[in-house]
Amino acid sequence: MAELMTGLKRSHYCGTLRPSDIGKEVVLCGWAQRQRDLGQLIFIDLRDRTGLVQLAFDDSTDREIFNKAFGVRAEFVLAARGVVRERSSKNMELPTGEIEIEVTELRILAKSETPPFEIVEHSKVKEELRLKYRYLDLRRPDVQDKIIYRHKIVKVARDYFDQNGFIEVETPILIKSTPEGARDYLVPSRVFPGSFFALPQSPQNYKQLTMLAGFDRYMQIARCFRDEDLRADRQPEFTQIDLEMSFVDQDDVMAVAEGFIKRVYQEVLGIDLATPFRRMKYAEAMDRFGSDKPDLRFGMELVNLTDALRNTEFRVFAGAIAGGGAVRAINVPGAASKLPRKEIDKLTEWVKAYGAKGLAWTKLNEDGTSSSSYEKFLAEEEVTAVREACAANPGDLLFVVASDDSQVVFDTLGALRCEMAARLELIDKSSPNLLWITDFPLFEYSKEEERYVAKHHPFTSPMDEDLDKLETDPANTHAKAYDLVLDGNEVGGGSIRINDPELQQRMFKALGFTQEEAQNRFGFLIDAFRYGAPPHGGLAFGLDRLVMLMLHCDSIRDVIAYPKVANSSELMTQSPTQVDEKQLVELGIAVRELNEQ
Ligand code: AMO
Repeated sequence: MAELMTGLKRSHYCGTLRPSDIGKEVVLCGWAQRQRDLGQLIFIDLRDRTGLVQLAFDDSTDREIFNKAFGVRAEFVLAARGVVRERSSKNMELPTGEIEIEVTELRILAKSETPPFEIVEHSKVKEELRLKYRYLDLRRPDVQDKIIYRHKIVKVARDYFDQNGFIEVETPILIKSTPEGARDYLVPSRVFPGSFFALPQSPQNYKQLTMLAGFDRYMQIARCFRDEDLRADRQPEFTQIDLEMSFVDQDDVMAVAEGFIKRVYQEVLGIDLATPFRRMKYAEAMDRFGSDKPDLRFGMELVNLTDALRNTEFRVFAGAIAGGGAVRAINVPGAASKLPRKEIDKLTEWVKAYGAKGLAWTKLNEDGTSSSSYEKFLAEEEVTAVREACAANPGDLLFVVASDDSQVVFDTLGALRCEMAARLELIDKSSPNLLWITDFPLFEYSKEEERYVAKHHPFTSPMDEDLDKLETDPANTHAKAYDLVLDGNEVGGGSIRINDPELQQRMFKALGFTQEEAQNRFGFLIDAFRYGAPPHGGLAFGLDRLVMLMLHCDSIRDVIAYPKVANSSELMTQSPTQVDEKQLVELGIAVRELNEQ
């Protein structure tokens, strides 16, 4: 039978005790990390949120207590009263390693079965098992620490925005479905059979309406839901630090956002960041790094080979140039001897995920010889021109990608550049690298939908100087939009919004919505804008990503207490699950077999 806490009140946390506490009587509570039975002596490491401390049972211990200590196993929940004393064999690796507790009272508050894995720091247990027993995984100090850091980061966010005049407003979780971007998660309505709420992909519409409502400055730690394929930096359910401000322009929003990042690094990690952060236009980021979230912690910039190869007879390159696309390269310095042919062949497959049909390469060996997959198809002066354009030296490895779709070239080389830097450990991780990307295109062309779609969202304002291009030259219309990039990851994004109903109508039209469609989807917003919308803009940080990057974690799952896995399921509760027929009937829902669809 488990014992009760009655009469015992915790006086200290385990990890906080120090030699200055010697002689004090303490009451501690926690989990038995391990028990060591040395015959005449028993030691139990007791663990709570703050760390470990050693409980000692020896000749001076009452026999009944000694026997009880003998029966303690890993993960038993204990309460112990005792006196802090100096340890005879000190463990200087442990903050409490100079002291121990001479136990005078011990209670076993709960027993534990042998856990499926040992609860120790940095264990190499498979993630699947860890997540199935996440509550045990979270007992591990290194795992728990990340969640505690997350708490601190959220606390700084609330303090910072409060001190800057922001009001936290909670917006609904059950909202109208207005898909544009990712797929919505839908929630069936019982009261209106056949009708659905959606879970918010972000509080975008509500925060704009909150500006119309006159709150002037809004913030929210907002849960967002997007039914999209997961990656290492994506979850279907994630959290934003969401903000919106009235009577501002782009620089005001960026300054407030920078102030927050500076403060959170300072307060949580003690790191001083210089502001303002560097800024780069979208076009330059694509041109130099093939990405709108470029990692500037290493070089390997994209080299444009179009001029060097303009008259080439090599079909692959000539076709790409003639088709209005691009031929570009990266020079991976010193990699010729590090990447065997087999690895290069694997990369040729790897790039296909980015749409590239192939990967051309040249290895320049240290001894002056070279091998290449494509140079034999080029004229001698073209080979020289390519190598010169790449500033190639002996030892370097060149990769070339050609496509009639420039975006494919950017995506492929942008990703390959990061992959090579990671593999060859070329990334300078000494300090956080922050960068704003500005001057985004307002639209991007969707081949799937055969229309222009909003690059950010349909409420983003065009640049003043591009207002005339909305209908005539959508491809070259720029947006008052900005993303914040941290170590090559998008940690935040936002824009100045349209506050003129007429301009909003033009925007919907440019996006291919009929007036009726726009009214159906966004009628509430269009109507609201008739009643005096202040100029406004905002931004949302991806909280999970920010925490992940601040703590140098490999996966977003590490900084979420109860994350989902790659197929969007949750292993601990085994959800999603099927539901009772009765629940479905109430909702007027019949589940079809997949092959009926
Ligand atoms: P956006 O869609 O760019 O903007 O999202 C803002 C930030 O949220 C993070 N993020 C994610 N994090 C984890 N998992 C995901 N699936 C995921 N999707 C996005 C990113 C991103 O920068 N309403 C606008 C903001 C605005 O305009 O004010 C919005 O949601 O770090």
